[in-house]
Amino acid sequence: MNVHGGSDSGPTPLHDFSTNANPLPPPASLSLALQQADRRRYPDPKYLSLRQHLAAAHGVSEEQVLPTSGGAEAIRRLSLAALLQGLREVWVPAPGFGDYAAAASALGLRVRAYADCAQLLRELGAEALVWICEPCNPTGTSLSSAEIAAIAARAGLCVIDRAYEPLRLQGEAPGIPGNCWQLHCPNKALGHTGVRAAYLLAPNVGALTQRMQQLAASWVLSAEGQTLLMQLHRPEIQAWLADSRAQLRLWTAEQRALLASLSWQQRDSCTPFWLARPDRPLPDLRRSGIKLRDASSFGLPGWVRIATLHPNSQQALLKELQS
Ligand SMILES: Cc1ncc(COP(=O)(O)O)c(C=O)c1O
Repeated sequence: MNVHGGSDSGPTPLHDFSTNANPLPPPASLSLALQQADRRRYPDPKYLSLRQHLAAAHGVSEEQVLPTSGGAEAIRRLSLAALLQGLREVWVPAPGFGDYAAAASALGLRVRAYADCAQLLRELGAEALVWICEPCNPTGTSLSSAEIAAIAARAGLCVIDRAYEPLRLQGEAPGIPGNCWQLHCPNKALGHTGVRAAYLLAPNVGALTQRMQQLAASWVLSAEGQTLLMQLHRPEIQAWLADSRAQLRLWTAEQRALLASLSWQQRDSCTPFWLARPDRPLPDLRRSGIKLRDASSFGLPGWVRIATLHPNSQQALLKELQS
């Protein structure tokens, strides 16, 4: 079982610093649209209007849009499709989202980890699938357009997971080379991780795209999943996302200052989550309703991934750490 931040089998944390989901309350219109999703019947098995809508938003053809039951399902399906297309090696960022390596090793693919672009370019062979997480979970770091172009030119298959692009607080999104696959998982930015919905954009309608369609379960996306994806590009939702970023920039600065005052080590990041190392072992915060993401599973014992929360939650954390 992969380790994840956010919900676990215990009671819902009062202050969940362990999830990367947008902590701001979602717009009422989004919640209403989800409530109104028609669960009484199947969605269109072809998801035609959804694919047309997303295709128009991204300037691609509808055949290039592949709905998935969340990013996690997309990662599994694309790894299997890559294997069936003959790829045998998978490069994953380290530290990085654990599902890339989990999907590859479950299929018997050879997993290789890269710490930076220079190492990847030195060692990458042509018959490999490369996962790029942009910006990266858990580090909040970002590659340059030139680095991504160099990787994409060498990889057998390059997939850019853009789960946190809508939550990029600093800098510009890098350019996406024309031969890359893209994964969009908007449930995090939209503050609805319980809705299992994401989509892939294929660079063309080739053999791999067809393979991905063949491997998809019927009605892979639920009625509310379809609704969530239909909402993403509405101007009101995009404006709310821009406002969220502005708010999160302020709260992030406050939270970083608070942790600095406690002598925590903190790495740079362009997202509202980052890697931090407390100056001493943490008390049992979970018992007090506070949750941080232990970074041991990222190969960083003693570190945590911490996400920005409302200043009230920051004060609750401070109080617990000082008590
Ligand atoms: C980088 C990244 N990609 C994909 C996912 C999968 O998210 P979901 O399956 O909810 O779309 C996550 C979840 O944490 C993630 O951090």
